[in-house]
Amino acid sequence: MALYSDKVMDHFQNPRNVGKIEDADGIGEVGNAKCGDIMRMYIKVSDGVITDCKFNTFGCGSAIATSSMATELIKGKPIEEALELSNKAVVEALDGLPAYKLHCSVLAEEAVKAAVKDYYDKNGIAYDPEMFNNLEDCEHCHE
Ligand code: FES
Repeated sequence: MALYSDKVMDHFQNPRNVGKIEDADGIGEVGNAKCGDIMRMYIKVSDGVITDCKFNTFGCGSAIATSSMATELIKGKPIEEALELSNKAVVEALDGLPAYKLHCSVLAEEAVKAAVKDYYDKNGIAYDPEMFNNLEDCEHCHE
């Protein structure tokens, strides 16, 4: 069996929603200290719905494929749904990733969460800080 699914290869070679949103409502930047990869996620929000989403990833192919898929999964969705996006859901949507590449998908989940947190912070929207606890220490992205 090929190491990477067709979907992973497709999203790596033709990533969707690459770029920057100049007037983004939320920007999330996360990195994995171990591999040095960095992901930046931009969201536009209107009436609680993510109307647009773009990303820039300086990282491995799996990081690019997972961030591309993450943008597809949250675009047009209510912000609460984006917050529930797990790296597992991203991996499933890509028909899997090799086990040693799963940490790359964690970066995609965290980038989405960081962008939402930034949106909440900028708009004075109250939230439970527990929701974003993992972003601070980021332990699990070093697994
Ligand atoms: Fe760093 Fe994939 S190896 S995110």
